[in-house]
Amino acid sequence: MSFRVQPSAPARPNRCQLFGPGSRPAIFEKMAASAADVINLDLEDSVAPDDKATARNNIVQAINDIDWGTKHLSVRINGLDTPYWYRDVVDLLEQAGDRIDQIMIPKVGCGADVYAVDALITGVESAKGRKKPIALEVIIETAAGISHVEEIAASSPRLQAMSLGAADFAASMGMQTTGIGGTQENYYMHRDGQKYWSDPWHWAQTAIVAACRTHGVLPVDGPFGDFSDEEGFRAQALRSATLGMVGKWAIHPKQVALANEIFTPSAAAVAEAREILAAMEQARKDGQGAAVYKGRLVDLASIRQAQVIVKQSEMIG
Ligand code: COA
Ligand code: MG
Repeated sequence: MSFRVQPSAPARPNRCQLFGPGSRPAIFEKMAASAADVINLDLEDSVAPDDKATARNNIVQAINDIDWGTKHLSVRINGLDTPYWYRDVVDLLEQAGDRIDQIMIPKVGCGADVYAVDALITGVESAKGRKKPIALEVIIETAAGISHVEEIAASSPRLQAMSLGAADFAASMGMQTTGIGGTQENYYMHRDGQKYWSDPWHWAQTAIVAACRTHGVLPVDGPFGDFSDEEGFRAQALRSATLGMVGKWAIHPKQVALANEIFTPSAAAVAEAREILAAMEQARKDGQGAAVYKGRLVDLASIRQAQVIVKQSEMIG
């Protein structure tokens, strides 16, 4: 192993990030009352160009007025290729109180994108004497973003989370799909007259997880557009959790409970992990590095695997 210790990601639950358009203030109270760990008020693609200024005002007011409880409160600003983003940052940090926790930067393409927003935030924070430093999260949703994913993960000490944005990612990559995440009709293997669907998001997800784990950032799966397809959401989220992601977006309140369920280690998984730790403790006492648990090998690596599940469960608890 490298002598550099892998840094821990922030120890806060991030099982579900519930999104809502900044131009629809009627749902803000419902978002605050939801069971999502993270709230993302949106200024970007769910807000029409003519509504950007109104949405900013709505969000500033909502940050100040609504009781967000213990939620991690994030605002998605516009991309750095737009005329809106600098005003998003300045208005939020000059006008909203300390309740805002985080800013989300969409369509990040390189580490310098994050540096630019960090510099602007740092300027406004010091000018205004803001006490609580704003955290950052980014969306990997372009070819440039995935190409520079490790540089982005290492770009700022403010960075806490990184999501895969499937729709913009597909567009930027020139993928022939219109679905937002999940199984894609034309992505299959064929054998003996049968189709076997495969996962077109797998590579991007694992690249994000590896970059995040290297630099102590939370890897998150983004939106699943078909909110009527519960089983499709479940399958996508289970794959993401298996690959090491800690949570998933909800673009409709229906998806919140599902995400919370899937990204909370089940009682059975935690019990098994604890049994493995106990079996390895017994092996240690017996002077062994490996043991048999339910007919299969467990060794020192099994301790680290089991600890992932136990620690995640304790942190959520
Ligand atoms: N957060 C909290 N509550 C929400 C909500 C959200 N994102 N979206 C809808 N609701 C509420 C509705 O107000 C309604 O409440 P009610 O039962 O008290 O009337 C209830 O949930 C059911 O809503 P429904 O009628 O099924 O949906 P809709 O047609 O009002 O809205 C969407 C559907 C997809 C337009 C809406 O959910 C939405 O804007 N989602 C977020 C989009 C977004 O932010 N995209 C950017 C990231 S990809
Ligand atoms: Mg997007």
